[in-house]
Amino acid sequence: MKYFTTMSKASNSDADCVIIGVYNRGKLCTSANVINTVAKNYIHNLIKSGDISSDLGQVALLNKVPGFKANRVAVAGLGAANSLDVIGFKKAIYACANSLRNSKIKTVLNTLTLELVKDCSAYYLARHSVETIHDALYCFDKVQSGKKKTSITLRSIGHSIKKQSEKLKADRGSQHGDAISQGVKLAKDLGNLPANICTPSYLARVAKKLSTNIKNLKTQILNETEMKKLGMGSFLSVTAGATEPGKMIIMQYKGGGKNKPIVLVGKGVTFDTGGISLKPGAHMDEMKFDMCGAASVIGTMLAVSSIKLNINLTIVVPAVENMPAGNATRPGDIVKSMSGQTIEVLNTDAEGRMILCDALTFARKFKPSTIIDVATLTGACVVALGNHRCAIYSNNKDLQDEIFNASNQSDDLGWPMPLGSQYAAQLNSNFADMANIGGPGGGSVTAACFLEKFAEGMNWAHLDIAGVAWKSGKQKGSTGRPVSLLSEFVLSRAQAVS
Ligand code: BES
Ligand code: MN
Ligand code: ZN
Repeated sequence: MKYFTTMSKASNSDADCVIIGVYNRGKLCTSANVINTVAKNYIHNLIKSGDISSDLGQVALLNKVPGFKANRVAVAGLGAANSLDVIGFKKAIYACANSLRNSKIKTVLNTLTLELVKDCSAYYLARHSVETIHDALYCFDKVQSGKKKTSITLRSIGHSIKKQSEKLKADRGSQHGDAISQGVKLAKDLGNLPANICTPSYLARVAKKLSTNIKNLKTQILNETEMKKLGMGSFLSVTAGATEPGKMIIMQYKGGGKNKPIVLVGKGVTFDTGGISLKPGAHMDEMKFDMCGAASVIGTMLAVSSIKLNINLTIVVPAVENMPAGNATRPGDIVKSMSGQTIEVLNTDAEGRMILCDALTFARKFKPSTIIDVATLTGACVVALGNHRCAIYSNNKDLQDEIFNASNQSDDLGWPMPLGSQYAAQLNSNFADMANIGGPGGGSVTAACFLEKFAEGMNWAHLDIAGVAWKSGKQKGSTGRPVSLLSEFVLSRAQAVS
């Protein structure tokens, strides 16, 4: 995709489609005003006749507006005047891009970047615009026979800017938006692939392949024998019943000299049956998405390394299938983690934490400046926060705030959640150093407390993304979250971005 910025009037644009907007009560956005004048009140008349709605999320696609160069104009509803925020801005752009899905346009000019959007600089306007357009145009047809559904002809996305001084910022916003969108797309693709294709070995191959194409990026894979030598008894207890071999995937991007790396750890359960503590049948197919944490850290690695940030980033992905079998781990079994701590497996369906704890211990060797694990960890998190925000836990309040801020900036939202000894005590075991579940209350919190026991002395945070990583129902599919949040976090560590 190509990107450009322009200061010339919308009426002079030769893009195949120009995106403009209208607010409530017939108020036109800057560029709509220009076009309306050239077109002798055409836009106003269509509002009057009810053919253009100002409701957020609505869009009217106009062809051949009189006196106007561009073939198409997409008119987005922008809601109440003077109160456009990032959510509304993105919603309007999403609707426009979605309406252009099957058209044959090659260039689009988004002029909504001229509007006042609350707390949003030229950099973020362009970045959100690019991310939103890619998000709307995403299509997964890798496993469909016959005619491909994808026929995206779009080649170039432009943004209107008010003044020359915004150009560099908007260009950078587009460039970062593009890289993040590639990361989101990769994360979505990996998430959407079924578990019979996207196995731990498949994830390992994808990681290997990425590093052959990108400078300063290398991938290392550990197999089960090597992990056994390292003492990863907790990880291995999860993969025990699976025929597909478990893998530990390590990717290191070195753009920051001798600085300590940021380490991201992603839960890569390519299918979670629950193991011997078997899950109920309904919607079990959605447990192919149980590797979305892994997908999001791999996607973030793609984004960060292709921007060539001057930072060191390492990702660690413990990848397994959680299956029942004659040699599967049983409830009551006690295993020894790489840290030396022993764990009583009271429920084999609490497997995410069992692979993450060994990955956290393993990651110590990279001496991380910060370590963040990302996991579709608990159904309880979905109960607590629904599908809108992920849970942000940390043993460091500043880090928790930093991630919360990154979530707000990227509009890939999270919410700070508590840890604490009262919750941690729910994990007490009569037999081992700890149990792997903490009883019925506060399931997302006790899972985080479990992980905290393996992060001692590290600057650590944990994101429970169970509610945000994929959508169910008619729109079933991976969202690519939280690639945008994680990329924002890394970007903001690397440089001042706005
Ligand atoms: N992958 C699931 C969590 C999950 C469930 C995410 C449903 C999204 C939707 C995880 O491995 C799991 O099974 N967690 C258990 C933990 C319980 C046994 C303490 C859960 O949430 O039920
Ligand atoms: Mn599970
Ligand atoms: Zn799981």
